[in-house]
Amino acid sequence: MTVRSIVVAPDKRLKFRSNPVETVDEEIRTLLSDMLETMYAGDGLGLAAIQIGVPKRVMVVDVHRLDDPPAPIKMINPVITWFSPERIVYQEGCLSFPEYFADIERAAEVRVSYLDENGEAREVQASETLAVCLQHEVDHLDGKLFVDHLSLVKRNIILRKMAKARRAKVIDA
Ligand code: NI
Repeated sequence: MTVRSIVVAPDKRLKFRSNPVETVDEEIRTLLSDMLETMYAGDGLGLAAIQIGVPKRVMVVDVHRLDDPPAPIKMINPVITWFSPERIVYQEGCLSFPEYFADIERAAEVRVSYLDENGEAREVQASETLAVCLQHEVDHLDGKLFVDHLSLVKRNIILRKMAKARRAKVIDA
């Protein structure tokens, strides 16, 4: 397992619509374990493949509590088949937006169909943190970022700060 480097916003790859996986093979299983490793290394709750620069519909999540054992879920070609009409507001962050957080409103519950790492069809119904996380990651597969749920003004403030921080870093290096 390898920790891969994370694509940080603003970066046009984060706007790509990722491609479905046709065959669940060893390459996909390696990608999934590298993604989990990368997500844990960054203390994230979820990671989509495009966040390490791979435009495939593959994502991992783990929302276990700190004192519980890890509970990773590896998903290939996930599709949200149901959104609850109830909504919740949750403070979200993203490994591609280090140090930025924002309150985002989403469906309180979702049902998601996907393939597991053996290519078996599965379904999960989720609420609370897991529901939020699944919606956030599926958005990544469609090139949508959590800041895209904010008003244009708020989004531009964040993106401008990110671009400025990057320029400062380049000058430092
Ligand atoms: Ni994210």
